[in-house]
Amino acid sequence: MNNFIYYAPTKVYFGKGEHEKVGEIVAGYGFKKVFLHFGGGSVKRSGLLDTVETKLREAGIDLVEFGGAQPNPVISHAREGIALCRREGCDLVLAVGGGSAIDESKVIAVGSQNDADPWEFTTKKKVPEKALPVGVILTLAATGSEMSASAVITNDELGLKRGYNSDFHRPLFSILNPELTYTVPPYQTACGIVDIMMHTLERYMTIPSEAEISDRIAEGLVKTVITAGRAAMANPKDYEARANLMWAGSLSHNDLTGCGRSYMTVSHQIEHELSGMFPEVAHGAGLAVIFPAWMRYTYKHYLSRFTQYAVRVWNCEMNFDHPERTALEGIEKTEEYFRSIGMPLRLSELGIGEDSIHEMAVKCTNYGTRVLKGPIEYGEKEIEEIYRLCL
Ligand code: NZQ
Ligand code: ZN
Repeated sequence: MNNFIYYAPTKVYFGKGEHEKVGEIVAGYGFKKVFLHFGGGSVKRSGLLDTVETKLREAGIDLVEFGGAQPNPVISHAREGIALCRREGCDLVLAVGGGSAIDESKVIAVGSQNDADPWEFTTKKKVPEKALPVGVILTLAATGSEMSASAVITNDELGLKRGYNSDFHRPLFSILNPELTYTVPPYQTACGIVDIMMHTLERYMTIPSEAEISDRIAEGLVKTVITAGRAAMANPKDYEARANLMWAGSLSHNDLTGCGRSYMTVSHQIEHELSGMFPEVAHGAGLAVIFPAWMRYTYKHYLSRFTQYAVRVWNCEMNFDHPERTALEGIEKTEEYFRSIGMPLRLSELGIGEDSIHEMAVKCTNYGTRVLKGPIEYGEKEIEEIYRLCL
């Protein structure tokens, strides 16, 4: 097991009705003026925004409404939020929504307190010195942004989607009421299921290392998500299924499943070029296409890990004479599952053709300045080959 630091400071309020406590929670910290940020309107349609605003006002909290984070949020809109947040002198950014609203809130929380353009943090030209705290009311189980150190944002002028990590991005508190996810459409629910599985499996199938406890947590988590995912797709109001997905989403990306491992998000980086250049592609759908191709490209380089996954997660029988057959069976089971919940497996299903592949591969290496590390190293050639496997 490698050395590690585990830091998950977010206070979680989990369960039915918990979002109604938002006024007392925010007042309890002593905040006076909330910058309230959300997505394209689902929280208005569901009545959640009204409830949140009422609870905040009842607790004597002033608020400024922003909203309008688009799926795969863009830096130009975050800049507008930063200017407004500064002007209004808010002391907390409260995100109500999915990963996109949360990530844009993180960018606003950091951007409003530092004298630099927010893209400079993403490119690591500058390091933030301070930030406003971020609170979250989660409406979609997927990204784990509600506990993660990451914020992912697209530069809409450059067509580049990038994430960057900072402890400033760890939300101060996150309110997780699974009932708030009942209205998530099936396609988006499925995207969330894939994303949660990927956050766990990318830590599981990373640079070879031993960490049995992390393996067992990861395997249990993924198995739970597979079952809960099926149940939530069949009945969107299945509370236990939604609850398991929601908590799994948070645990998948708060680093718990990666303790003791070196971790690099290879499939995530390769996917980010899809939803960066083609913002209509949902992140989870992009992952459903990329991850199986990445597995097929990689399994021979870490065969024992891929057979372990097949046997422990998918209950495949171990073929000791031909272990690669067991590994392939695990990959096929993964693809079958993605297909069964309505996810795409080919770039063509996302409307992306061969003509974009070279450009995506070049961008994914940051124009030749990085290689991605997993069981092997992935430069432009390898990344391009993985995209081609998705055609
Ligand atoms: O925008 P609104 O109107 O709210 O609608 C959203 C959006 O259309 C809708 N939705 C959310 N909650 C709903 C709902 N519709 C009905 N009922 C509800 N309760 O779902 C759509 C997708 O929302 P979005 O926030 O974009 O989805 P998700 O949570 O999957 O976030 C995706 C973004 O997060 C990034 C992705 O790259 C992408 O940009 N990620 C962030 C990570 C992080 N910060 O740690 C890690 C991830 O790997 C990921 O990269
Ligand atoms: Zn993800």
